[in-house]
Amino acid sequence: MTPFEIYKKAHENKYAIGQFNVSTLEAVKAVVRVAKELNASVIIGTSENEAKYLGMKNIADIIENARQEMGLPIVLNLDHGKSLEKVKEAIGVGYNAVHFDGSALPLEENIAITKEIVEYAHSKNILVEGEIGHLQGSSSVIKETIDIKEGDLTSPEQVANFVKVTGIDSLGTALGNFHGMYSKEVGGEEKIDLERLKKIRQATETFLVLHGGSGINREQVKEAIQIGIVKINVNTELRVAFRRGLEKALKEKPEEVVPYRLFPILIDEIGSVVKEDISFFGSEGKLI
Ligand code: G3H
Ligand code: ZN
Repeated sequence: MTPFEIYKKAHENKYAIGQFNVSTLEAVKAVVRVAKELNASVIIGTSENEAKYLGMKNIADIIENARQEMGLPIVLNLDHGKSLEKVKEAIGVGYNAVHFDGSALPLEENIAITKEIVEYAHSKNILVEGEIGHLQGSSSVIKETIDIKEGDLTSPEQVANFVKVTGIDSLGTALGNFHGMYSKEVGGEEKIDLERLKKIRQATETFLVLHGGSGINREQVKEAIQIGIVKINVNTELRVAFRRGLEKALKEKPEEVVPYRLFPILIDEIGSVVKEDISFFGSEGKLI
């Protein structure tokens, strides 16, 4: 199944596919294992920095091996790519989806570069996600309350033109969501503007993406999927699980020096987060 077919099926059946960002082989193992176990489509995402750490070609090859070994149509997406050069590099090594994030640029510039990327990517049958609206935060534990202003949010009025002129296949939306999740000390809930999402849904037929998936109020996520979100990006939850798993492994086996005897503990920890998300997003058992 191509990424386009995977999104289409999710759209028609009102569930969402999880995009799980990775920067270690252990996270890849966790996501792939759970996807196989639950018979679910998944998207593996890497930001530019995550790809740099893993090696862009390395991760593309690892995912291609996993597709063949497991018989899974795993999507590999460049997440928040910031330039045409990076997008071309990712496509060149085997990514089958790319996200160009020009949201920090003036709208006209964002439109122009996104359009150029779509032309290039579509000539190679690669799916493109674009983005308008400003997403704050970063994929870590956030220690201060984030102040989201109306002007940061994706404007339903700009969406139709953006999609039409650029030709993107999917759109990253800013609805009050942010990258990262609040620390226990900060508390507070990450809430999204569902009325705005409904207006965006009415303005375009493109596939809609929810970024900053960690920490968003679960009931709202459920509603967002019913309104039309087909892809949910999750990173911080997995990073927190990685650390929790690592601490657990070292505590349980204080004398152990063999990595492959320590790391299964953290793979399990990441895996249980992925499992919960896939079930919650409704994509469990949806692979043909
Ligand atoms: O693009 C990646 C995601 O938006 C991750 O966000 O770290 O809040 O889960 P998150
Ligand atoms: Zn994101």
